[in-house]
Amino acid sequence: MKTGRIHLKVNGRDHEFDLSPDTPLLYVLRNDLCLNGPKFGCGLGECGACSVLVNGRTVRSCSISVAAAEGREIVTLEGLGTVDAPHPVQRAFVEQQAAQCGYCLNGMIMAVAGLLNRNPDPAEDDIRAALKGHLCRCGTHMEILAAARRASQLMREAQLVEIRS
Ligand code: FES
Repeated sequence: MKTGRIHLKVNGRDHEFDLSPDTPLLYVLRNDLCLNGPKFGCGLGECGACSVLVNGRTVRSCSISVAAAEGREIVTLEGLGTVDAPHPVQRAFVEQQAAQCGYCLNGMIMAVAGLLNRNPDPAEDDIRAALKGHLCRCGTHMEILAAARRASQLMREAQLVEIRS
């Protein structure tokens, strides 16, 4: 298979690879950059475990090629926040104890982050629509929904503080 130079910007850092352009982004994130936030679940765009943000929108990284991701801002779970300064969505998921096994959690968090980027005050139906197709087999669905609502509240509070200061 023919390879070529691919430039990717991931979590604010530039990287260059010699790759086949149709390589799934997920493979590069996990195998080359050792970013294990995005999970390999189905590899078919069906489960959501591999989700990342591409230009602020939630995308399934198993289903987008490196060529399609080139020139865009890619953010993984690792790039959202840190242990000391978690992103409001990460903070909300911890507060609401929304994890059980944790495998789906990357996708759930990235789905909520992408939703709040485009709609800071989503209705319940908007939250459910954003999480539709993100599979969780443990059953913490109610906690995940509560975390999404709490994340929206935290982000709006943070924006108010920003506006006042
Ligand atoms: Fe990408 Fe399942 S691994 S959607």
